Amino acid sequence: MKKIKISPSILSADFSQLGNEIKRLEEGGADMIHVDVMDGHFVPNLTIGPPVIKSLRKHTDLIFDVHLMISPVHKYIKDFAESGANIITIHPEATENLKDSINLIKSLNKKVGISLNPNTKIDIVEDFLSEIDLVLVMSVYPGFGGQKFIPEVLEKIKKLKTIKEKNNLNFDIEVDGGINFENCKQVIDAGANILVSGTTIFKSNNGNIKKNIYDLKIN
Ligand code: DX5
Ligand code: ZN
Repeated sequence: MKKIKISPSILSADFSQLGNEIKRLEEGGADMIHVDVMDGHFVPNLTIGPPVIKSLRKHTDLIFDVHLMISPVHKYIKDFAESGANIITIHPEATENLKDSINLIKSLNKKVGISLNPNTKIDIVEDFLSEIDLVLVMSVYPGFGGQKFIPEVLEKIKKLKTIKEKNNLNFDIEVDGGINFENCKQVIDAGANILVSGTTIFKSNNGNIKKNIYDLKIN
C-alpha cells in the first residue's frame, strides 16, 4: 500500500505572496505542490504560466505537480518542463496525439500524468497506463477551487485501482477537487494515494496548514 501524499493546490493561496505561501506549505508538511495552470480556453479561468513557475522554483525543492488545464497543450510542454515542473499532467482532450505528448514529457525527463474529468472515461487512457506515472482523477469540473466533490468519481477511482492491481502497474492515483475532512477517507479507501486540496488546506482551522495537511492524511 503506497504512502498517502498531500499535494496542496496553490490556486487557493494568496497570489500576492506565492513564494511565502509555498514555504508555508513546505513547513506544513506538504509532499508536493499542485500548480493549477489555466488558459481561459480549456477551462473558464486564467491563472499562471512558465515565468511564474520559474520564479517559484527557487523557493522550494518540493516536487512541482503541474496540472495543465490548457489547450492546445503539446506546444507548451517544453516551456513548463524548463520552468521547473517535475510532474506534467495533461488532459487527453487537449492534445491531438496523446501518445506523442506522453513521449515528449518523458523525453524531457519529467513524470507524466493524465487527468480525467468527471465525464471522461478511463478507456481514453487505458492503453497508456503502463507508460505513465500518474492518473489525476478530477472530482470537480476543472476551473475553480472551492467546488463540491462529485461522489460518482469514487467508482472511477475503484476501477483504476482494480486495473492497476490486476496488471501489476505502478501509476499513482491522484484525486483533485472538493477534497475535505469528510470525504478524504472514502477517496483513499477507493484507491487514491495522492490527494490534492486547496480550499480545505488553506481555509480550514483558521488556515492552520500543518493541522489541515495532517488531518487529511490520517482521516
Ligand atoms: C480545479 C483545480 C483543483 C482545485 C482544487 O480546476 O484543478 O486543483 O484547485 O481546489 P479545491 O481543493 O478547493 O477544490
Ligand atoms: Zn488541479
